[in-house]
Amino acid sequence: MNIFIPIIIIGVLLVITLILILADRLLGATGEKILNINNEQQIQIRGETTVLDALSAQKIFVPSACGGKANCGLCKVKINKGAGDIRPTEEPWLTEADREQNVRLSCQIKVRGEVDVEIPESMLSAEEYKTKVVHTEDLTHDIKLVRFKLIDPPTMDFKPGQYCQIEVPGIEDIRAYSIASDAKKNDELEFIIRYVPKGMATTFIHKAMQSGDTIKLTGPYGDFYLRDTDKPAVFIAGGSGKAPIRSILFQLRDQGFPKKVRYFFGARSKKDLYYTEEMRALEKEFDNFEYIPALSHPEPEDNWEGETGLITDVLDRMTGDLSGHEAYLCGSPGMLDACIEVLKKHDIPEEEVYFDKFA
Ligand SMILES: Cc1cc2nc3c(=O)[nH]c(=O)nc-3n(C[C@H](O)[C@H](O)[C@H](O)COP(=O)(O)OP(=O)(O)OC[C@H]3O[C@@H](n4cnc5c(N)ncnc54)[C@H](O)[C@@H]3O)c2cc1C
Ligand code: FES
Repeated sequence: MNIFIPIIIIGVLLVITLILILADRLLGATGEKILNINNEQQIQIRGETTVLDALSAQKIFVPSACGGKANCGLCKVKINKGAGDIRPTEEPWLTEADREQNVRLSCQIKVRGEVDVEIPESMLSAEEYKTKVVHTEDLTHDIKLVRFKLIDPPTMDFKPGQYCQIEVPGIEDIRAYSIASDAKKNDELEFIIRYVPKGMATTFIHKAMQSGDTIKLTGPYGDFYLRDTDKPAVFIAGGSGKAPIRSILFQLRDQGFPKKVRYFFGARSKKDLYYTEEMRALEKEFDNFEYIPALSHPEPEDNWEGETGLITDVLDRMTGDLSGHEAYLCGSPGMLDACIEVLKKHDIPEEEVYFDKFA
């Protein structure tokens, strides 16, 4: 008799689970689902959808570079009601501050019942653009400059330092790329894109994309831009991290370089350097600007007489007390984290360090 008891318990649990799943499905399919946006707009949602997709259907373009797979952490928005508990997939991306302010990954939250989202003004201004590729150029063996002409809408106003999301045709996957061009020329955008072996977007951009192709992008996004202060600044970039810094340098040039800037650029060897002439011309024109390229592994044939070593070591060696300074960093997460530690050692206030991680 005793051997039947566990079987009966398992059977009962199975029936309860089935009833719960069925109830959830029925409620999900027929229950009213409402998305409130900034307490201003109320959207009725049909079927199963995430907050990210529901916003996108309203032409509100929240950044997302992994197609909703919880791999990029870019799709954060404040959800003040109806998000449920934090999901395991969100855990690695949410900081203490995010949790206190109800910030969640919008791609992981399904609209069930009533959901209240708070979208910052800066995100509401992002639009979808139809563009045409008008120029591509090899800057190094693995970095390309790509220029897009904006077709519809025909112009984009952006802050130098901000980024766009480019849609890879065919697979409709999107990736983030910083705008590398002069914000004054707002009918064309330039991007500096490094090839990632087996990378989905960069393989398309480097191996298949051609002048004349039509490409969809959204933007502008991000809060990596020059703060309006006269504090001296340290700029640090590696590889394609030069992109947003280049756009910021055009802005400073147009303003007559009102602040002192020392720009550290890390590369492996001479074949990884690009736009050196452009930087040297700026240096000649403005006493306030200094460009310091550093090679970690110069080749004998490079005949390199500049700085050598990892960019962190060069930064450490060449900087003194940085209190009263601000810093702008762009590149791979590993390089940025290491540089931030060096900056802290030189007493730069943490709140004066601005960065965009190309994760
Ligand atoms: C805000 C922001 C701005 C960015 N701006 C630029 C920019 O201006 N220029 C630019 O070139 N990139 C930029 N990136 C990175 C870009 O969005 C893509 O992640 C990158 O181009 C790789 O895309 P993919 O589809 O080719 O590779 P995926 O198919 O996404 O990845 C393929 C493989 O490569 C690995 N991988 C992904 N990225 C890198 C990397 N950078 N280095 C080494 N391995 C990698 C992945 O883990 C994966 O295993 C930016 C990222 C962010 C978040
Ligand atoms: S879209 Fe990448 S984490 Fe949500």
